[in-house]
Amino acid sequence: PQTASFVVVANRLPVDRIELPDGSVDWRTSPGGLVSAFEPIMHSHEGAWVGWHGAPDEELDPFNSDGMELVPVPLSTEEVEHYYEGFSNATLWPLYHDVIAHPEFHRDWWVAYRTVNQRFAERTAEVAETDALVWVQDYQLQLVPQMLRQLRPDLRIGFFLHIPFPPTELYQQLPWRNQLIEGLLGADLVGFQLPGGAQNFLRLVRQRLHYETRRDRIQMPEGRTVIARAYPIAIDATGLDQLARSPETAERAAEIRSDLGDPETILLGVDRLDYTKGLPQRIQAFGELIADGALDADKAAFVQVATPSRERVDQYRKLRDDIDRLVGRINGDVGRYGRPPITYLHSSYPREEMAALYRMADVMVVTPLRDGMNLVAKEYVACRAESDGALVLSEFAGAAKELRQAYLVNPYDINALKERILEAIHDSPRTKSRRMRIMRRQVFENDIEHWAKVFLDDLAASHRD
Ligand code: G6P
Repeated sequence: PQTASFVVVANRLPVDRIELPDGSVDWRTSPGGLVSAFEPIMHSHEGAWVGWHGAPDEELDPFNSDGMELVPVPLSTEEVEHYYEGFSNATLWPLYHDVIAHPEFHRDWWVAYRTVNQRFAERTAEVAETDALVWVQDYQLQLVPQMLRQLRPDLRIGFFLHIPFPPTELYQQLPWRNQLIEGLLGADLVGFQLPGGAQNFLRLVRQRLHYETRRDRIQMPEGRTVIARAYPIAIDATGLDQLARSPETAERAAEIRSDLGDPETILLGVDRLDYTKGLPQRIQAFGELIADGALDADKAAFVQVATPSRERVDQYRKLRDDIDRLVGRINGDVGRYGRPPITYLHSSYPREEMAALYRMADVMVVTPLRDGMNLVAKEYVACRAESDGALVLSEFAGAAKELRQAYLVNPYDINALKERILEAIHDSPRTKSRRMRIMRRQVFENDIEHWAKVFLDDLAASHRD
């Protein structure tokens, strides 16, 4: 493959290889916040992206896409089961999200996680130029920094965790806790969404490995220093704002509104179908508001987009069944002819359609039980060019630390959810506009370019020390 001086390493490439029923092959944008955040950065850095292409048992050559070099890492069917669905998404994901679901610990999953992380490290070592800057992403690849440092001590290595880093009491459950911490410490700079995550990590390093720390610096036994610091991730606010303002988007937004029967108030939820997102509580709250008469089924509609995710993992399958049942019951209980109060879409949509949805929605409901950041909240704000609309936001999303003017809520408290939704609907336009203007300033002043620059500047500086 062509070598590069800037390399991003993530479990997924920005595009997924999809085989269509007729046997032909298509490429689709990968799901999730990580890819949507990194795409704009890559376009301005002209680097290489090392990642899995989403199809098991397929070996692909590196290829160029929009000026960036994509370097596919193959995974066997068994590795997909043990490393991706198993250790990454049935062990680490629930453990790092407050054990909302029960994390499973299997020794063979751990073995696969190590093997695949080693492969990612080797692939990266092949594509990185001398002294290149390598940026490793997220919980699927926590051993890569250490493995890569062993192969290529010349590299500058940064790591960013997109999900929360849990309190030490929960982290200690993990049978391989020390190995993972050592894995991360192979980096020069370890980034977290929130200061709390960085502090949890520093505490663990002291408690478990007895390395000395001073403020956000860790003194490694071999003399290196590792920095652990918070970098709340952002979005391409300007790009999204432009898209949302376009006449095509306006037209599409009006069309969706009219398809829904032009109700007075439209609420919107947009999430991967994940048990961390608080979907049952949110749907329950809306259903009760209609049943109580606090909202009129003829005047209010709720659109929930739930992007299919990790569908072969048990907890996700069960969640899908639960949501199907809940939506069906509520629509059956309180729906009228041609007007189900909840429009539930189990699907993913391109950026253009998302911008139209955000532009159309009067109230955006983002109520995860735990979320590293949640970029949907920021995307909604970026799409409200008129500074109208309202955001109901969970206190337990990282974004709540920045978007203080949202209608903040504890998503486990159904009554509070109902109250906050009503408040977001009925507050005066002046109040809503003041809140939205403050949030827009936050989102535009701290965009994704700025985020990447701050991280990469710190990484360069850390290495010089
Ligand atoms: C979250 C994670 C990402 C992940 C994305 C989609 O945003 O932080 O690492 O890529 O979800 O999940 P998936 O398992 O489909 O890659």
